[in-house]
Amino acid sequence: MIQEGQVTVEAGGVFYNPRMKLNRDICVAVVRHLGLDEYCDALSASGLRGLRVAREAGTAQVVLNDVSPTAYQRMLENIARNGLANCEATQCNANVLFHQRHFQAVDLDPFGSPSPFLPAAARSALSYLFMTATDTAPLCGAHQSSGIRKYMALPVKTDYHREMGARVLLGSAVRELARVDKGAEVLLTHVTDHYVRTYLRALPGARAADKSLLEMGYIHHCRSCRGWTASPRCRDPGCPTCGGPTIPAGPLWLGKLHDRDTLQGALCGLDPDSRAAKILRSCQDELSLPMYYDHHSICQDLRIAPGRIEDVVASLHDCGFSASRTHFSGLGIKTDARADQLCAILLDLARRGRSK
Ligand SMILES: C[S@@+](CC[C@H](N)C(=O)[O-])C[C@H]1O[C@@H](n2cnc3c(N)ncnc32)[C@H](O)[C@@H]1O
Ligand SMILES: [Zn+2]
Repeated sequence: MIQEGQVTVEAGGVFYNPRMKLNRDICVAVVRHLGLDEYCDALSASGLRGLRVAREAGTAQVVLNDVSPTAYQRMLENIARNGLANCEATQCNANVLFHQRHFQAVDLDPFGSPSPFLPAAARSALSYLFMTATDTAPLCGAHQSSGIRKYMALPVKTDYHREMGARVLLGSAVRELARVDKGAEVLLTHVTDHYVRTYLRALPGARAADKSLLEMGYIHHCRSCRGWTASPRCRDPGCPTCGGPTIPAGPLWLGKLHDRDTLQGALCGLDPDSRAAKILRSCQDELSLPMYYDHHSICQDLRIAPGRIEDVVASLHDCGFSASRTHFSGLGIKTDARADQLCAILLDLARRGRSK
């Protein structure tokens, strides 16, 4: 028997991953903040995620679905065990369910990629679409051809591969929503352990869809200097730092990854000392600019020892740039400084360190 949050479940014979507790903790906090009336946990296994939403987020109607007969049995038992009359269990192929019913919020928590479910889920989700992707290698560019097949986008492996993965996934979801005349507002995105998790609000109408598509584009990455530029076009703009050629990644989402109110609201429902709260505070603090530099990679190129990352961020601020750390990586620096400007600051910091 598993106790998690305020529910107890039996997960014999079905999938259960204790490491995903963090993902579910954040999910419950987001759903509670959004005040949802209806939520569909479409790939539910034991029902744990949906049961927690039903008990802890105060959602009026929760549907737990799984195609597996064993999972369906577990869901029925777990609903009864927790006395949750606001939960309904169904045993359907999720894509069939999505074509039969609409839900205020649809959540996809698959093995690997959510891509087989995205088209139908985008149709079924009236106001919210949430998803987890554990296929980080295709998303981040480590398995490029698989990324192209699953997400119809070219991912490129870079220092900022974790954010690359998040933006490729978001790009795919935004295009699926646009196909059914829905726009998208990204409420929260985090890449933790080995998965990407994102929460989207679906906005009705072709106009909203067109507006969202304007935030799609490409990242042009320079292998010579580790810099990049974001552009709505695929054509190589040339590297603004070193003039070298660039490689395009995309199409991907270039818009914001988090919404201030959602982060604030979700944080209210979390223990401030929890890892979930720390991740959300880190999301709050990060600059809303695509991608980040890897402090250690750049120092390695410069043949200098990396100092404290906080000092680099402070020096960037002193030089008039925007800069922050990022939840994507402990070594990541988000800034509007070009690669050569960041290098100059790092060299200066190293020189001053040596002369102390
Ligand atoms: C990663 S598990 C879900 C874990 C669960 N959400 C949790 O938090 O514990 C994925 C589930 O999707 C189910 N599944 C796979 N393909 C499906 C489909 N086409 N329709 C419905 N369920 C499916 C599997 O049986 C499995 O139980
Ligand atoms: Zn360059």
